[in-house]
Amino acid sequence: MNSEEIKKDFPILENKKIVYLDSAATTQKPIQVIKAINEFYKKHNANPHRGAYSLSIEATEVYENTRTKIATFINAKHREEIIFSKNATESLNLIAYSYGLNNLKKDDEIVISIMEHHSNLVPWQKVSKVTGSKLNYMYINEEFELSNEEIESKITDKTKIVGITQISNVLGTINNVKKIIQYAHKKGAIVIVDASQSIPHMKIDVQDLDADFLVFSGHKILAPLGIGVLYGKKNLLNKMNPFLMGGDMIEYVYEQETTFAPLPNKFEAGTQNVEGVIGLGAAIDYIENIGYDTIQKIEKELVNYAKEKLSKLDFITLYLTPNSENHSGVISFNIKGVHPHDVASILDSEGVCIRSGNHCAQPLMRYLGIDSTCRVSFYIYNTKEDVDKLINALNKSYNIFKNYINK
Ligand code: ALA
Repeated sequence: MNSEEIKKDFPILENKKIVYLDSAATTQKPIQVIKAINEFYKKHNANPHRGAYSLSIEATEVYENTRTKIATFINAKHREEIIFSKNATESLNLIAYSYGLNNLKKDDEIVISIMEHHSNLVPWQKVSKVTGSKLNYMYINEEFELSNEEIESKITDKTKIVGITQISNVLGTINNVKKIIQYAHKKGAIVIVDASQSIPHMKIDVQDLDADFLVFSGHKILAPLGIGVLYGKKNLLNKMNPFLMGGDMIEYVYEQETTFAPLPNKFEAGTQNVEGVIGLGAAIDYIENIGYDTIQKIEKELVNYAKEKLSKLDFITLYLTPNSENHSGVISFNIKGVHPHDVASILDSEGVCIRSGNHCAQPLMRYLGIDSTCRVSFYIYNTKEDVDKLINALNKSYNIFKNYINK
């Protein structure tokens, strides 16, 4: 299967005739996912876990079968280690509130990397402020990577929580989370992996990684917006208090007291995003049908082609590790002297969709000494022709702005 064939499964790309290079923000959806959601509403819609009638039992079955599918997909040992949430942000907040606030005390340390998305950063500021623990950062080197020395100097006997993204949403740097987890465990810390940017591109095996928690958003992996996943080791989740209180997360409710349901319901209060779960299940089927080997082959060829073309544009600054084996499908750059929003607007007029801004990573931007970048991010439906259109549009942008640039 190649990207030209895959592209045909994505109606929006056929209908709009756009070059979509913002898959790190959200991926487009294949017809198979759209159809699965449609089928759910046409044939199975009811509130899972709520009714004794057959339609509700059917809805419960499709919902719970998807949990099992996800557990298998990321090789979780127990299906109840998979908790559905709204997105990676909500999953991370759940960990911060239910684990962080209850397990950290004054002088404990939380360690995250400077390349974290705000969602894996702001909750830890809150935990640090409430508990009196310290929030420390692992900084990147000149190659936009975390060195062993940096990891080993920041994760210490005082560290209780390490939060790390597997792939940076700005730099595309792939972090060796397995190595970080091994080191953190030696020091007695638990590790939370943000797999939002990695799971679309690489096989995740939570048992092989030995991750304590791992989160991702469905919408970055071909599924609908508004569905997320939290994986947590059963022994940790069992000891944690619920994050949200309400229907379906309880066992017995008395006037003044409540006992809580076992996993996973304890963390799934209220009516859930069932269509999102169904869509996520269909997205996983779609990805497994193509296979991660093919996904990586397509992306590698495409990203190498894009890097080669972009590096020939002398009016561009790239923020990119030179070690291609540590780099994924995200490329940040700037046209020297031109604001990224202006570049993105010109590109839009050429039908090329890219993201511009700080990418929810303001501390990283500050550390790099910039306030924003242009960012292109690729996925399996992108072709070399898309890259050529990007390069043409960038040349046009530069020609428009070159007379105004302060050299
Ligand atoms: N986190 C998403 C991005 O990087 C929205 O664009």
